[in-house]
Amino acid sequence: MFIRDIHLENFRNYGRLDLDVGPSVNIFYGDNAQGKTNIIEAVYVACSVASHRTGRDLDMIRFGADYYLSELTVSDDYGSKTKLSSSFINSSGRTKRVLKQDGLEIRRISDYIGVCNTVIFAPEDLNIVKGSPASRRKFLNSLIMKVSPSYVNLLGDINRLIIQKNTYLKSARFKNKAECDRDLDFWDFSIASLSADIVLYRYRFSKLLSQSAGEHHSSISGGREVLSLLYSSISGIVSVLEGLISENDVLYKFMSGNLSGGDYERIKGILSDNILIRLQSVRSYDIEKGISSVGINKDDLIIELDSLSMRNFSSQGQQRSAALALKLSELDIIRRFSSSSPVLLLDDVFSELDLSRRVSLVSAMNGAQIFITCTDKSFISDELEGIIGENTAGFYCVHGGEVTEG
Ligand SMILES: Nc1ncnc2c1ncn2[C@@H]1O[C@H](COP(=O)(O)OP(=O)(O)OP(=O)(O)O)[C@@H](O)[C@H]1O
Ligand SMILES: [Mg+2]
Repeated sequence: MFIRDIHLENFRNYGRLDLDVGPSVNIFYGDNAQGKTNIIEAVYVACSVASHRTGRDLDMIRFGADYYLSELTVSDDYGSKTKLSSSFINSSGRTKRVLKQDGLEIRRISDYIGVCNTVIFAPEDLNIVKGSPASRRKFLNSLIMKVSPSYVNLLGDINRLIIQKNTYLKSARFKNKAECDRDLDFWDFSIASLSADIVLYRYRFSKLLSQSAGEHHSSISGGREVLSLLYSSISGIVSVLEGLISENDVLYKFMSGNLSGGDYERIKGILSDNILIRLQSVRSYDIEKGISSVGINKDDLIIELDSLSMRNFSSQGQQRSAALALKLSELDIIRRFSSSSPVLLLDDVFSELDLSRRVSLVSAMNGAQIFITCTDKSFISDELEGIIGENTAGFYCVHGGEVTEG
């Protein structure tokens, strides 16, 4: 997939932007605070709906305006074009997201994401390694969604149920026990079933990431250290799952996403029963405290270097290498499971990486369309010369929310 043009309205510091971009490397350069990251963010939003740097859509609406629009024309490898547009409207305090493909409104996010996949490399990547579990769940969720867009429906459904259950729990201790049990059984049964689907996705993609990130990290660090990832979920659930898929044949089919419908339902059913038991075992505590103390909304991805938790023990440089290895693995996995190569968005990353990490990144580019931001035009052109050939790159000067070619 590649992007042909970008159209923005009221997106951060852009009032309006209409820009044709090239199918290979596009370099956005300019001083600080001119709007380089804003373009990268707008492209990401048009493809993936959410921003990579904020969870608040309102922040992306230009100050004083009441909507933003980010629209892209994208082309597949055979030249067939489609228009993707993502907008967010704030009208008298009521907000609304509108997604369209070729002018037609798309109601389910899962029918929209995945049309044009992007992988973004940005300074925020470091949070995957050193941030809270929420940063790692966000990373894992966003990878799974790109490969299996229907995963986003599972997340939407379970989040809705958890919010409802939590609201109920706040006043549950004042209710009659039998009535309370009956109501919570309803939520817990549905939550356990959706959780089992989510655990199956997360376990599988954590394993895939761990394999791939281990290899990337070994080549970035010269094979000195071993990087591995462990999926951590509701206590005991991962070992139940590992027991269920331990036979070679089942494991192979599971990892490649080819379990038969019958096998999937059997494994999911056992997992779901176990999760339900866990939820019920903390019910009295949850009623007393008015919260859900157990759930996949607390899952984490434990990142270890030579068996030590990276979040607690690694240096900045080691964390940076691990973050890069994880993002390169995201790219590998998307390439493996989807038919077209994702667009790469590199925000401010070159200047921060040392030579071995730059080489790893550049060798992963592999013919993809790339958007790069930097403050120093000559540094980037020297860096990329010889790797991509100078005349295939397009340069764009970004100044005060306006972009000029050249
Ligand atoms: N909602 C908004 N409305 C108007 N302007 C905004 C909005 N959000 C951010 N900005 C402005 O956009 C400007 C450019 O931001 P951006 O992050 O794209 O800069 P940049 O060119 O990437 O800079 P750097 O080189 O420092 O990374 C900032 O000055 C910021 O104040
Ligand atoms: Mg920036």
